[in-house]
Amino acid sequence: MSDSVHPAPERLPGPRVWIVGAGPGAPDLLTLRAARAIERAEVLVVTDSLVSPQIIALAPPGCECIRTSTLTLEELMALVVERAEAGLRVVRLHDGDPCLYGALAEQICCLADAGIGVEVVPGISAYQATAAALQTELTVPGLVQTIVLSRVGGRTGVPASESLARLAALRASLCLYLSARHVEEVQAELLQHYPAETPVAIGYRVSWPDQWLTVVPLSEMAQASRERALIRTTLYVVSPALAPPEQARSRLYSPSHRHLFRGGAPEDGPPDSSASAGRARSAATPAD
Ligand SMILES: C[S@@+](CC[C@H](N)C(=O)[O-])C[C@H]1O[C@@H](n2cnc3c(N)ncnc32)[C@H](O)[C@@H]1O
Repeated sequence: MSDSVHPAPERLPGPRVWIVGAGPGAPDLLTLRAARAIERAEVLVVTDSLVSPQIIALAPPGCECIRTSTLTLEELMALVVERAEAGLRVVRLHDGDPCLYGALAEQICCLADAGIGVEVVPGISAYQATAAALQTELTVPGLVQTIVLSRVGGRTGVPASESLARLAALRASLCLYLSARHVEEVQAELLQHYPAETPVAIGYRVSWPDQWLTVVPLSEMAQASRERALIRTTLYVVSPALAPPEQARSRLYSPSHRHLFRGGAPEDGPPDSSASAGRARSAATPAD
């Protein structure tokens, strides 16, 4: 196995920075690419409260560790640019996946302005870790086929077109980040759209040793959060898929669903094509 970090598709000349998703917490939920980047880091920049000490410990001896909890983004980026311009390999670690609520856009712009090439390494996001811990599919056929990842306004705000009311009206599997402080308003708004008994998973520090994870009816979401005094590192997953009907079954694996790799003609199309969907829907009954 090569020990090189996978090259970015396009490189700016000069030193490079790796922006790496550290996953939800458990060190063994790091990707191999993330682990390799950390193992080769000369400077590790990390929000210590959100990244496990065991992940930080993967950095080699002599690697400088910059902890960011008390820094502004400007201060942090000044340190990153300085180290990268000095020719050091800088790894900026983010919890979960960097593309979600990680100020990735600002960092990439700042590094591009400085002419520093960047590689982004994806990570497992909190919603994926939560679904896995619950052994749940968030896209159950015939029930829900859409996942929404969002947050409530708070200080950052969200565009009016993405108001919680509009998202809730979809009745999709709704994963809410950064929202525990506003759980009372969230519950009240969601109750306008989802039935009160809709299951809500509440995950605190999912995949960490002190993980707390429960599923309650929507009408008890705020009370359950209050009882645990949840404020941060909490994810809500509101979804009918957390209590799917017994007959829910993927058409893709149904004996009656033919496709290219299982006795089907190419014109059968993908599993979602309307012709095959109609056939398979009638097959996806308890009689299967
Ligand atoms: C700044 S956002 C970063 C999200 C991260 N980039 C991701 O993909 O999971 C931090 C929020 O993510 C959620 N979060 C991150 N890790 C979590 C975990 N292990 N358990 C539960 N929620 C988590 C919480 O909503 C937390 O407030």
